[in-house]
Amino acid sequence: MEAKVISGVHFPSLPSSYIRPQSERPNLSQVSEGDNVPVIDLGCEDRSLIIKQIGDACRDYGFFQVINHGVSKEAVDKILKVAHEFFSLPVEEKMKLYSDDPSKTMRLSTSFNVKKETVHNWRDYLRLHCYPLDKYAPEWPSIPSSFRDIVSNYCMEVRQLGFRLEEAISESLNLDKDSLKDVLGEQGQHMAINYYPACPEPELTYGLPAHTDPNALTILLQDLQVSGLQVLKDGKWLAIKPHPDAFVINLGDQLQALSNGKYKSVWHRAVVNANKARLSVASFLCPCDSANISAPKELITTSCESAIYKDFTYAEYYKKFWSRNLDQDHCLEHFKITT
Ligand code: OGA
Ligand code: NI
Repeated sequence: MEAKVISGVHFPSLPSSYIRPQSERPNLSQVSEGDNVPVIDLGCEDRSLIIKQIGDACRDYGFFQVINHGVSKEAVDKILKVAHEFFSLPVEEKMKLYSDDPSKTMRLSTSFNVKKETVHNWRDYLRLHCYPLDKYAPEWPSIPSSFRDIVSNYCMEVRQLGFRLEEAISESLNLDKDSLKDVLGEQGQHMAINYYPACPEPELTYGLPAHTDPNALTILLQDLQVSGLQVLKDGKWLAIKPHPDAFVINLGDQLQALSNGKYKSVWHRAVVNANKARLSVASFLCPCDSANISAPKELITTSCESAIYKDFTYAEYYKKFWSRNLDQDHCLEHFKITT
């Protein structure tokens, strides 16, 4: 049977199509709760300190959280509220927007890539293209009636934060501030509003299995009350504790490629829990389709290294990414220069 939305549907037990084989289960008791990814204060007056902290986090974790990030509390509170309202709509209303075709620019879907995967994931998601806003916002949901205004405003604020971070990441690599942004071109912006309903058997399945993000930079707003995001660090899964007023930032595959492997697009996953639904809002900054992803020459000569990856366009990469299932090898492996 094909998977359809799970939010708002009652499941007394986990349907078999969501059950992972023993060897692939999340093993929640093995997850480390002690360490956390760095929390970086972007309001700090010492810019060189911010850049150093960002560089260290990108190299050692591929993930960090930011506070005093400049996105207004109002924008954050409103999008969380309207996202909850959206997923509380009746199933029939949500199904009007349902599609499992990844090429659609607006769709409500479930799991990850329903047509490619063998086991489903305990997640529904609304996926939106967000840039340019005047092109895409008119196709977004019209219920709740405030949805388009609230999400548009949030998208604009988050985009500015993303650019600031890309500048800092560029500087942390000893490149000009605008160097990475220049390679990425007129960046696209996508959003996934993820909704993970309470799950009857969280040990047997995932909200999202381990994956890396195919884009340049991801800015994640996660539910404060319910944790679930985990990051692979030195071979161990580490739970990211939700930090009040923070965004979780991670580097996508394109920044790993552009840094010539110096920075990592790290495996991460979302697990579910038995008691509470969890919501997250992921904003993805993506190179423009025609961007030629090729590590800046400065990075290669100064570190006495050769290029690790072939040059490719983002359009080529994105096509490859969606042709696969999530829990396979790192998609960048397909773009390595073989010697
Ligand atoms: C994603 C993602 C994690 C989360 O949408 O790519 O990794 O906690 N989400 O929802
Ligand atoms: Ni992700």
